[in-house]
Amino acid sequence: MTKFKAFHVEKENDSVSHSIIERSLDDLPAGDVVIRVKYSSVNYKDALSAKGLPGVTRQYPHTPGIDAAGVVIESNQTAFSEGDEVIVIGFDLGMNTPGGYGEFIRVPASWVTPLPDGMLLRESMVIGTAGFTAALCIEKLEQMGASPDDGPVIVSGATGGVGSVAVALLAQSGYEVVASSGKSDKESYLKSIGAANIIDRQVLADENPRPMLAANYAQGVDTVGGTTLSNIVKSLQYGGSVSICGLVASANFKTTVLPFILRGVNILGIDSVELPIASKNKIWDRLANDWRISSLDTMAIEVGLDGISAAVESIFDGQVAGRTLVVHDA
Ligand SMILES: NC(=O)c1ccc[n+]([C@@H]2O[C@H](COP(=O)([O-])OP(=O)(O)OC[C@H]3O[C@@H](n4cnc5c(N)ncnc54)[C@H](OP(=O)(O)O)[C@@H]3O)[C@@H](O)[C@H]2O)c1
Repeated sequence: MTKFKAFHVEKENDSVSHSIIERSLDDLPAGDVVIRVKYSSVNYKDALSAKGLPGVTRQYPHTPGIDAAGVVIESNQTAFSEGDEVIVIGFDLGMNTPGGYGEFIRVPASWVTPLPDGMLLRESMVIGTAGFTAALCIEKLEQMGASPDDGPVIVSGATGGVGSVAVALLAQSGYEVVASSGKSDKESYLKSIGAANIIDRQVLADENPRPMLAANYAQGVDTVGGTTLSNIVKSLQYGGSVSICGLVASANFKTTVLPFILRGVNILGIDSVELPIASKNKIWDRLANDWRISSLDTMAIEVGLDGISAAVESIFDGQVAGRTLVVHDA
């Protein structure tokens, strides 16, 4: 029987502990496709699950990892065969289904994306849910007619996983990117991935009683929520849009109707989790082709299963810049 290693989170009342345990395929839930996971990554949501915080994982013990890329070992569906390289992100993976921090997963075929031609498994997980979500944010701005000629695009939480990929993708698509960041020591990193200008995170975080502000930005990608989002909405140019995907500062934000009825601005909601697989596959194809990101290598650090706990702490300390790749040595 195949035995494998998995990062294991136990929760007793408010106390959470991490360990690396041995599991077998029989411990995995029923499903169509068994995948030997080569790479996963550490996202904000993984950090919530690993810390036992509410909103992601209901039942512990648990193996997090909302991202996985690897090789099919078994499939009861003709769409996948042994040896196929595949990606799984979102749906219930790593939430209440054992995730990519185990060396094997078993999932429904409807969650599985064939690795697109031209993309390596490792690259897919440097992108991961965070980068995929950045791509969704930009696709939705494009659907609203965004163009590099319109003017600067603001990205909040710019050194984070979503933020970094958003900065890089926008910049290589020709947009002038203004990166909002709390990390003054990461200016050269942000410039290296394409930011034209950097503003201190506090500029957008301070509450401003005015219903509208100078129209500094043609578009926005917001990962932060709260006052930052309120201020971005107030600062959009006529007809501009902001894609919103995150809540690292707050799930709430205040606004009046004025930016909407006087400047015709738009708020675009982004969800990477339940996005149907056909739409997911199209985004992965773009990321392998016209959206191939040239600066991926500069964005990632690597950890093994024994490095996940520290990576989770770094997320909550706000210390992460770019993406953290989890590499299985199986
Ligand atoms: N909707 C979806 O489908 C979806 C998918 C993926 C992620 N998300 C959400 O998107 C958000 C970002 O995810 P991520 O993986 O990019 O997280 P991350 O890597 O931890 O990055 C978050 C970044 O936000 C900034 N930040 C941290 N604390 C902050 C605070 N209190 N106020 C303002 N900014 C703060 C930091 O960047 P700076 O230091 O540069 O400011 C940090 O690096 C999370 O809320 C996550 O749940 C949603």
